[in-house]
Amino acid sequence: MQNRLTLDWTKVHDVVPIEKELSENFPRYVEAKKKLIMGDGPGHEFTGWLQISNLLDEWKRIQEVSQNIKSHSDAVVIIGIGGSYIGAKALYQAFNNDLSKNWKGSPRLFWAGHHLSTDEALDLLEVLDEYTPSIIVISKSGTTTEPSVFFRILSQYLYQRFGSDEAKERIFCVTDEKEGVLRKIAEQEGYEAFTIPANVGGRYSVFTSVGLLPLAVAGLSVEDFIAGANMASLDCLSESNHGSETHLALVYAALRNILYSKGYKVESLCSWTPKLHALGEWWKQLMGESDGKQGTGILPTSVEFTTDLHSLGQYFQDGERILFASHIYSKGTRSAAHPMIQGSLKIPTSRNDDQMQCVDHKSLEFVQEQAFLATILAHADGKVPTLVWELPEISPFWLGYWMYTQCFACAVGGYVRGINPFDQPGVEAYKQHMFALLGKKTGGSEIRSRLERGQRLKTIGLSTYG
Ligand code: PA5
Repeated sequence: MQNRLTLDWTKVHDVVPIEKELSENFPRYVEAKKKLIMGDGPGHEFTGWLQISNLLDEWKRIQEVSQNIKSHSDAVVIIGIGGSYIGAKALYQAFNNDLSKNWKGSPRLFWAGHHLSTDEALDLLEVLDEYTPSIIVISKSGTTTEPSVFFRILSQYLYQRFGSDEAKERIFCVTDEKEGVLRKIAEQEGYEAFTIPANVGGRYSVFTSVGLLPLAVAGLSVEDFIAGANMASLDCLSESNHGSETHLALVYAALRNILYSKGYKVESLCSWTPKLHALGEWWKQLMGESDGKQGTGILPTSVEFTTDLHSLGQYFQDGERILFASHIYSKGTRSAAHPMIQGSLKIPTSRNDDQMQCVDHKSLEFVQEQAFLATILAHADGKVPTLVWELPEISPFWLGYWMYTQCFACAVGGYVRGINPFDQPGVEAYKQHMFALLGKKTGGSEIRSRLERGQRLKTIGLSTYG
């Protein structure tokens, strides 16, 4: 097994000969890297995530508190939205999903505060009755609507169920060090609180207590995750690492921007296991919120193969040629623990003629590898520039390494495009309308009349019900 992350862009070059442009442009990426490290670029006040070793002040307390949580809780609800939950969920889902029977003696994690769905809220409240839960509420600002609403609902649930003294022992906060409503609430109520550093923005915060506390509670090897991210930070920040052969984040940033300039406006992160679904969501948030600025930016999407080869696969192969694919792939799979299987999962012969004798006794891993190879070739033939991130294995270490590399590429690529990859002014628009409608600020009646004006174009559907 090759013990490093690799980025293969051969099948970008096969579709769009790009090598010359990459080498001509590369010095701009080296400059942008310097700017990022020197703190000379836009949003430089949010680059505290660059040095992973600076983010570990609370690690010892996280370990102690997570042990305490495990001792009295068999479920923990993580309340947060955007960067305040999706990184932790990505890792949790990669190693513990609905099919995992063995929760390694750690509490089961549930997620809330990332939506406003009543159905989902009611389901959660019902299922929590079967557990002895705690909650971790994560919000840097402390004023985000969705987590605030769910914090009210779930803290009231704990107070009613356990009484105020015990409820207070079951509520944990992760928020800004000094500023913000949640910090004040934690102090007033005596909840244990952890810090999101002021100089780290939400979507770059998975390496802080935002990611580390939930993952420690879930029993993930957080040390390995930190070690992977730390190694990536050393590789990305190294003063001697400026090579287009060796600096993965710079090459990736350059490839993305060059493809974008040639009309490839949509990037799809293609994973090869349902376990990486939430990682795709994390990546979309990172890239989408960072890149989509001033009427420009790649639209990030994600798919899981081979599942989506039977749906969006048609568009990849034959739709408008605006799409490039970034695969995240690993040949390394875990060895099988099931007594029916020795070593790798082998496909048995069929009792019938299913016309699939070609897979007799082959490992599932082997079959997937052929599907992977066939896909990247077919897509390249279909003029989809295709690059492949190959991980030695899907492990906390290598996901930590890969996630940090994505953050670095996202920041550098943004600087070269002349945007601020650390702000998100666009997400305010819906909030301002919603606050007016909720009465948090003025202007509600004007918004309502604008909505009503739109109704003249409503088409009323037929109903045969009743
Ligand atoms: O990347 C970001 O900054 C956002 O996605 C935030 O993480 C998200 O809006 C949640 O914000 P907060 O942690 O303040 O509740």
